[in-house]
Amino acid sequence: MRFVDLLIAAATVSAVAVPTPTKKRAGTFQFTGVSESGAEFGNQAIPGRLGKDYTWPDHNAISTLIQKGFNTFRIPIMMERIIPEKLTGSVNETYAAGLDDIVKFITNQGAYAVVDPHNFGRYYNNIITDVAGFGAWWTTVAKRYATNEKVIFDTNNEFHDEDNALVGQLNQAAIDAIRAAGATSQYIFVEGNSWTGAWHWTSSGTAEAMGKLTDPQDKIIYEMHQYLDSDGSGTSEACVSATIGKERLADATAWLKANNKKGLIGETAGGANAQCIQAVQGMLAYMKENSDVWTGWLWWGAGPWWADYMYSIEPPSGTAFTKVLPSLADYI
Ligand SMILES: *[C@@H]1O[C@H](CO)[C@@H](O)[C@H](O)[C@H]1NC(C)=O
Repeated sequence: MRFVDLLIAAATVSAVAVPTPTKKRAGTFQFTGVSESGAEFGNQAIPGRLGKDYTWPDHNAISTLIQKGFNTFRIPIMMERIIPEKLTGSVNETYAAGLDDIVKFITNQGAYAVVDPHNFGRYYNNIITDVAGFGAWWTTVAKRYATNEKVIFDTNNEFHDEDNALVGQLNQAAIDAIRAAGATSQYIFVEGNSWTGAWHWTSSGTAEAMGKLTDPQDKIIYEMHQYLDSDGSGTSEACVSATIGKERLADATAWLKANNKKGLIGETAGGANAQCIQAVQGMLAYMKENSDVWTGWLWWGAGPWWADYMYSIEPPSGTAFTKVLPSLADYI
């Protein structure tokens, strides 16, 4: 999800009764869930103030979504907030404690917590070209969670407008650093260039370098994003057609199969209307048919500050929570 959407911040917090968490439904997908926004909000305010510029996801909301059958929660954070001085610098323990808390809350319930530096391949707005420095950042962060098997490391959110080979090198540096930090059992989600768009995966040229990534543990999953509006940016309530979801995944599906890789749609959404619901259902049904390569999907997005955002799946009253989620039960 692009910068502009992250600047929206309206603090409306509702009280929710604490539900009893239940296990994920016995569906086809290994990972189903949502991105839990908050800690990446106000991303031009660094370090930012807790409760004013950014916040942490809501425990009760996560429990409610676990009850619905979801088992994977992607936590967008900011690279500059957790390691402020330089890529090779040390952790800001105040911000890191917030991440520790939410990771613990999620993983204690048996769900996956995805650590997602929501940085678009940038650090302080500059394209990251220091490959070793990027690895160092990941060494520091991965060490913190090296013993928690339910943590998933997401290399970076939506690289874009940069060199395809560089994106490959940064991903490989992250994988190598995470493994060397002792995090050897966890999954790693890797993201490509061109906003990691599934529909542009091969045509953008990102597939070539990304296809060469290696992991000694063989636990990398290609995280692609796919929105269903006309420009694929996830900024409209309208979907192109009722079949656009399936159509936009065809090319990436063929690539995953031909290259013997596993994929995940790490961000998707559509407006709360009949055509979008059909388009999302069609996409998820297609992924289910191709579950030899598609491991799951995550909705964008939940989080306590989305207010009346068109895609908000935040319980109890987010637009997608009340109007879209009931139609997706077969795919969780
Ligand atoms: C560390 O994080 C806290 C909370 O976000 C912030 O108030 C503080 O200024 C940060 N310190 C540095 C050195 O960035």
